[in-house]
Amino acid sequence: MVDLAIVGCGYWGPNLARNFSSLTDCRVTVLCDTDAARLQHMKRLYPAVDVCLSFDEILDRSDVDAVAIATPTRLHYSMALKALDSGRHVLVEKPLTTSVQECESLLEIAEDKNLILMVGHTFLYSPTVRKIREIVQQGDLGELQYVSARRLNLGLFQTDINVAWDLAPHDISIILYILDEMPVGVNCQGKAHVTPGIEDVTNMTLTFGNGAFALIHNSWLDPNKVRQMTFVGRKRMLAYDDIEPFEKIRIYDKRVEVPPHYDSLAEFQFSYHQGDMYSPSVKQTESLSLECQHFIDCIKSGVQPESCGAEGLKVVQVLDAASRSLKSNGARVELSTVRRRIGTASPALSLV
Ligand SMILES: NC(=O)c1ccc[n+]([C@@H]2O[C@H](COP(=O)([O-])OP(=O)(O)OC[C@H]3O[C@@H](n4cnc5c(N)ncnc54)[C@H](O)[C@@H]3O)[C@@H](O)[C@H]2O)c1
Repeated sequence: MVDLAIVGCGYWGPNLARNFSSLTDCRVTVLCDTDAARLQHMKRLYPAVDVCLSFDEILDRSDVDAVAIATPTRLHYSMALKALDSGRHVLVEKPLTTSVQECESLLEIAEDKNLILMVGHTFLYSPTVRKIREIVQQGDLGELQYVSARRLNLGLFQTDINVAWDLAPHDISIILYILDEMPVGVNCQGKAHVTPGIEDVTNMTLTFGNGAFALIHNSWLDPNKVRQMTFVGRKRMLAYDDIEPFEKIRIYDKRVEVPPHYDSLAEFQFSYHQGDMYSPSVKQTESLSLECQHFIDCIKSGVQPESCGAEGLKVVQVLDAASRSLKSNGARVELSTVRRRIGTASPALSLV
């Protein structure tokens, strides 16, 4: 049995509480928030669970093996550091921290203390995303040419991070998971329309070594909630719409063929292949429930999670590069790969 504390009971924390409480090998022992009204609400839902206003109080308890952190991003590093330092396994919501250096320091301490550090890249546990990965990696789409991602809605406006740090961690983690590769370059442009200095619309481009590229559009200033991705291969195209209740994945047998030889412009013509569309069936299980079970399983087995600290670091490296690019009006920021002590590839950043 793993005894767990959850800190942060705003929008996301209650989802963690609901999922962790339903597991047979996890006991939620304490819920923490600085907002007494939120704690009162949680106490009504979970009368048997203790509540407290101070994070430090959690760490003084003997019935806490692990901590799940769902506080605003600016607090992730300090809370995760304290929890790891006190010998607790940690699940931190996305993004892992606000800087590459902070991620690296958490990874180091987790490794030194032999503790699980996991980041809440929830979509890596989505059966739909896993199915897309299988389809792409089996080569069903042919060589992948590009990916486009749109994650838009009205709000929720944050004060400590811009929309890229808020929404793009999902898109980036999905793309890295499916392509199994880090980008070599990142460009990002954006604009702050509402809160000065905090971009509420961003457009990011990731360029990969094999020629593939990905476009990521994020916005807090859109009338519709959009969660769409398109994977364009040389043979077929796949559209993923996470808002769709049933046909989340649609595979189109569509492609453009360019004739290999032509002698004049008049002879040159594209051939558009318009085939069938089919939608593979995917059994839907709540991704967060799979993520929570995975965290507990990893604590029990000592195996590194799929969304381990090193994966959290990769996403923050891309976000950090995007922030640098934003500051230089979209100039490309190179990510060159160097070996890290913990055995994963870590890009060192340089602006060009
Ligand atoms: N994985 C996902 O799909 C997903 C979805 C939404 C949010 N998130 C992440 O969850 C985290 C929280 O987001 P949210 O939307 O729930 O934010 P929120 O503002 O609704 O909730 C944050 C809560 O933390 C509490 N808090 C602030 N400082 C605290 C402190 N020092 N000690 C204890 N509690 C404190 C606040 O009172 C608030 O209740 C963010 O990192 C966000 O990116 C993840």
